[in-house]
Amino acid sequence: MNVLLCGALLIVWVPLSESACYMFPDHKEKQPIGSAKASDCIDPHDKSEHLTGTTWINSMCQTCSCVQCKTLCCDRVLLPRGYSEDCVATFNRKKCRYTVHQKENLSAQCKTQYYVGK
Ligand SMILES: *[C@@H]1O[C@H](CO)[C@@H](O)[C@H](O)[C@H]1NC(C)=O
Repeated sequence: MNVLLCGALLIVWVPLSESACYMFPDHKEKQPIGSAKASDCIDPHDKSEHLTGTTWINSMCQTCSCVQCKTLCCDRVLLPRGYSEDCVATFNRKKCRYTVHQKENLSAQCKTQYYVGK
């Protein structure tokens, strides 16, 4: 049942020209037909397993969806722009975002004018 569902429809529903998204191939193709495995997609970084129709955030701060057994991941990290040259941006892995501090004093936050998508 699951295998049929995976092979039948290949609908690309997200414009892949958006550079921040990546499509990963159907991992089921490498599995024998009738394999007992219940998952449809495997996260390319975490190797966690997901079913068609689900969305998750992985350890690389990407929003991933399992669509027709293909994994689609989009970067959701925004890059700070327009901050002073005395400042430095550091990535906070837990929050999946950058914070900007003064180079001289890391506890002083800097103003960021805007953020851009990667
Ligand atoms: C660093 O910045 C914090 C917050 O602005 C400020 O309270 C502190 O006095 C600064 N420390 C130094 C060494 O400048």
